[in-house]
Amino acid sequence: MKGIILAGGSGTRLYPLTKALSKQALPIYNKPMIYYPLSVLMLCNIRDILIISTPRDIEVFKEMFFNGSDIGLNISYASQDKPRGIADAFIVGKDFIKEDNVALILGDNIFYGYKFEQKLINAINNNKGATIFGYHVENPCDFGVVEFDNKYNALSIEEKPKQPKSNYAVPGLYFYNNEVVEIAKKVKPSDRGELEITSINNEYLKKGNLKVELLEKETAWIDTGTYEGLLNAAKFIETIEKRQNIHIGYIEEIAYKKGYINKEKLIELSKSLIKTEYGKYLLKVANGG
Ligand code: TTP
Repeated sequence: MKGIILAGGSGTRLYPLTKALSKQALPIYNKPMIYYPLSVLMLCNIRDILIISTPRDIEVFKEMFFNGSDIGLNISYASQDKPRGIADAFIVGKDFIKEDNVALILGDNIFYGYKFEQKLINAINNNKGATIFGYHVENPCDFGVVEFDNKYNALSIEEKPKQPKSNYAVPGLYFYNNEVVEIAKKVKPSDRGELEITSINNEYLKKGNLKVELLEKETAWIDTGTYEGLLNAAKFIETIEKRQNIHIGYIEEIAYKKGYINKEKLIELSKSLIKTEYGKYLLKVANGG
């Protein structure tokens, strides 16, 4: 399976922060936002990754990760010239996807959960068409919302409904088989002029090929697209790192634990960061701590 991180958009809800800077390069505690979705794809064992951003911002990410080989990945880049919508990722990314299945993650979504890695891998292994997630929220009107029957089979998905049929929002992580490229090509822009991911999910639902996995309450999902979300995410990451000694989004550590890089490489990577707690943590991991 290949992976796409969609890290463009306009970021208008974060103005003036994002007037001249990419949202996904902003800090979440001690690392750029994009590290978190990248780490999720790595937990899924995905190594071929396409980062899509705006023509203005794509250079920032190239500078950040080059070709990904430092952490055992194969990262490539594409520009989306206008924010046409989330489903446009499969059109911009079609030459990258080729014949493969694909995971899409939004560049401003942060996930953390107990046994999350296993849950992701199971979702990929059992995927027949599309697998998406449902997460209980208080404000479903801001998201795609899933309606379920009494056995938790999905009945409908509505994008930002005024009268939501449930409290289950669809977070920005989706797994698809290769059909998604053809489906995306046929999606028509919505009333707000975007190619909606909800339209793709509804197409799979119509064919009976959509699975909606519920994420437990213990899983954290944070959309960092607003001032509050940005700050809450930073506080969350700091709190669980300092109080529980749980380290989220350390891409070098994941690369090491997955066996993509060896101990010497991890030590080398930690050296350039050694003035920071981040670098010291990587060194500790390399030394078996
Ligand atoms: P949104 O948060 O829905 O949109 P945005 O980032 O443009 O922000 P705002 O609403 O404040 O103007 O986008 C979700 C994620 O998807 C985010 O990481 C940006 C990315 N995205 C694209 O890369 N291209 C797109 O066409 C869209 C719609 C979003």
